[in-house]
Amino acid sequence: MFENSRILYDRAAKVIPGGVNSPVRFFNPFPFFAAYANGSKVTSSDHISYVDYCMGYGSLLLGHAYTEVLEAVKLQLDSGSLYCIPTEKEVRLGEMIAELIPACEMTRVVNSGMEATMNAVRLARSYTKKNKVIKFEGCYHGAQDYSLVNIDTSGHSAPSSSGIPKEFSSETIVVPFNDFAQLEEEIRKRNDISCVILEPIPANMGLVVPEKEYLNFIRKITLEKNIVLIFDEVVTGFRLGTGGASEFFGIKPDIVTFSKSVANGFSLATICGRRELLEQFAPTGDVYQASTYAGNPVAVTAAIATISALTRGRNQIYPRMTRVCDSLIDGIRDVARDRKIPCRINSFSSMYQLFFTTREVRDMTSAKTSDLDMFNTLFTALLEKGVFIPPSQFETCFLSYAHADEDIDRTVEAYDYAFNLMRSKK
Ligand SMILES: Cc1ncc(COP(=O)(O)O)c(C=O)c1O
Repeated sequence: MFENSRILYDRAAKVIPGGVNSPVRFFNPFPFFAAYANGSKVTSSDHISYVDYCMGYGSLLLGHAYTEVLEAVKLQLDSGSLYCIPTEKEVRLGEMIAELIPACEMTRVVNSGMEATMNAVRLARSYTKKNKVIKFEGCYHGAQDYSLVNIDTSGHSAPSSSGIPKEFSSETIVVPFNDFAQLEEEIRKRNDISCVILEPIPANMGLVVPEKEYLNFIRKITLEKNIVLIFDEVVTGFRLGTGGASEFFGIKPDIVTFSKSVANGFSLATICGRRELLEQFAPTGDVYQASTYAGNPVAVTAAIATISALTRGRNQIYPRMTRVCDSLIDGIRDVARDRKIPCRINSFSSMYQLFFTTREVRDMTSAKTSDLDMFNTLFTALLEKGVFIPPSQFETCFLSYAHADEDIDRTVEAYDYAFNLMRSKK
């Protein structure tokens, strides 16, 4: 059944570490290989079509191969793919973002979420002349030295990857999400904090929702202590609405990073924020940030087309995605109840994740109470039924504008099949 993928994986493992170009793509015994994708579906090299809830880890908000974006990109390709000379389109993109997001007076375009968050922190350190960074346990900001940090068993910051010096991770303080007291304690007891960086709705420990007033509390205390607040909206930007989480929650961070949904599957990210902060970037300021591919006309064209489609269609697109997601979750809850499977589902807008636990999931500690064997059974059973979710409990499932009621029916049936399998195993 997976013969073509198996052959490709055997070839891949010889020339690509682990056979994949990003570790989250691997799952046992080997991942299926994608051949093409359209709308809400991805088709494997084994000619199997899956309803996709990974959607490029949230990048394909409008769906795979969205015509308007692809047409704009095809036109651009005839005029070249890289100039390394400024273009009018880059100006237009900056203007569009400034118009949509009050916190974003200026924008610098880069290529990936990691590049965006890394440079956002560099700006904050330069601006405050302080070094320490506060991040939240379970929030992910890209595979870079200061953010691949965990709390070790003795309660100290430690690198969560080999190859990162302890000296780097010791600059990062990790606190639990949704914990008002610990954050306040860290902030009040020290004077060397440059920034607090967070995913306003964390999507990298499964999905976790901030408690009421939590984001307001963080804004208030960072303002009080002159700490730069960075909203890492690599996932939430343009997904919750055209104004992202900052508009949704009515909070003005100092710096916001976007990627994923901003260019519907093309490689582009942005560092946006207050003029005073952004003007520190060279050549106006002395914070060095540079990239050959930054602002390339292909990705910028995709971003302009995506934002135009989202802005024009926002009254239809966002309510529809939320409605379809809600109906999926209702369906999953119903079959879980019927099959007597204890679980919790966290959801927000067009994102959700299911945890096999009876505890409320509000941070990394509670996310970890989920039964991972059950999650793996779920993942495999869904795959068998033509439904692809991210292969990790600590990722989030994403819907797109292309997901329709027929996908939901198929998906709920697949969850029912998986839950039934779990019951019969017990
Ligand atoms: C919230 C968040 N920030 C940053 C990143 C890093 O983005 P990239 O993979 O484009 O480097 C990710 C990636 O998933 C993310 O979810």
